[in-house]
Amino acid sequence: MKILLYRANQVLTCKAENGKFKRKYELNNLGLLEDSSIIIEDEKISEITSSKSFDKSDFDLVIDCRGKVILPGLIDSHTHLIFDGSRADEFELRLAGKSYEEIAQLGGGIVKTVRATRNSSKAELKKLALSRIREAISHGITTIEIKSGYGLDYETEIKMLECANELSLETNLDIIPTFLGAHTIPVEFKNNHKEYISLITQKLIPEISSKKLAKFCDVFLEKTAFSVEESKDILSTAKQYGLQLKLHCDQFNSIGGVQLGIDLNVTSIDHLEMITDDDINKLSQTDIAAVILPGVSHFLKIPFAPVRKMIDAGCIVAIATDFNPGSCTSQNLPLMMHFAALYNGMKLNETINAVTINAAYSLGIEKNFGTIEPNKIADIIILNTNDYKNLIYYFGKNFVQTVIKRGKIIYERNN
Ligand code: NIG
Ligand code: FE
Repeated sequence: MKILLYRANQVLTCKAENGKFKRKYELNNLGLLEDSSIIIEDEKISEITSSKSFDKSDFDLVIDCRGKVILPGLIDSHTHLIFDGSRADEFELRLAGKSYEEIAQLGGGIVKTVRATRNSSKAELKKLALSRIREAISHGITTIEIKSGYGLDYETEIKMLECANELSLETNLDIIPTFLGAHTIPVEFKNNHKEYISLITQKLIPEISSKKLAKFCDVFLEKTAFSVEESKDILSTAKQYGLQLKLHCDQFNSIGGVQLGIDLNVTSIDHLEMITDDDINKLSQTDIAAVILPGVSHFLKIPFAPVRKMIDAGCIVAIATDFNPGSCTSQNLPLMMHFAALYNGMKLNETINAVTINAAYSLGIEKNFGTIEPNKIADIIILNTNDYKNLIYYFGKNFVQTVIKRGKIIYERNN
């Protein structure tokens, strides 16, 4: 199959000089090409050209992109998309003045979603997740990371990861599964952290590794979840079993998570709303991705991560939704980019590199995804606008017209 994307008004290649990620000034450069065409052969991009004349009979399909914008498919590198149940009641409690942490202490929060997810069959979970995957595609997302962490027991954690793996085969998206058994302490182990950690390190991690159910292992390092020592124990075991590492930390309290992430050389550290200046400096000296989640700051009314400082210092910043029922109920990644621009101090161009090349890097998939370059996988979106700035300037509007995944059109809409 040979496809010509004919004469787009703007093509954002997002190509990185080192082929891996962008930091500092390069983060503001989109590799913008005007009036350019793209040739796709099977699942790969074969050429990007400024040529104006083509023999259309050379192609199976020609898409007229005049007046449109083309950019890499967006990558949502941090989600908790598989879950059952609703927490709308907790939203109402928060509107009445209770905090997210207070609600968790009253038996709500993550453990409420755990109860609903444990009671849900794999088929039900897949059905719910599938409709969310369709929603993600409609926002231009072509690759998505999905965490477990609403099971917190052997059966349900495995069930969630099997769901993610099966959905990856059954849908058009590339899904990257992450094991987050250490999301919080389940109620039955409330007074026995050690025993729960043993279940994770001695039973779940070996099984997940041998069945190849997850690429990453993640931990929620927080006063109300796992300590630095506990997180270290879990993540070092996961590393020994060949899993790559991620870390949720500094969401509410800065208690040493960033230093642990650096010591273990994790692939990404996520959240970072409360990161200290000292940790920003340390993180900026590493090649660890910093994944920020502006939708959480919005939804929970907590501080926004100090991203301007982070980028100026040299951190490799990516943006994700963190989509989940408790702290961010939106899958609209362009809306997160809008928040990041207004409240995290990011420049408009920076937000685009943060959901393409840097997001791919935060998942270790930058070799094949995240940019428009010859030989890369043809994950491409076409926007129904002539200026890419509109994607961030307008908020809550959907400009996505066509989504191409591995060289196939998987979504089209006339807007
Ligand atoms: O990334 N920080 C911890 N976990 C999720 C929230 C999950 C929930 O509230 O259900 C997060 O924000
Ligand atoms: Fe999260």
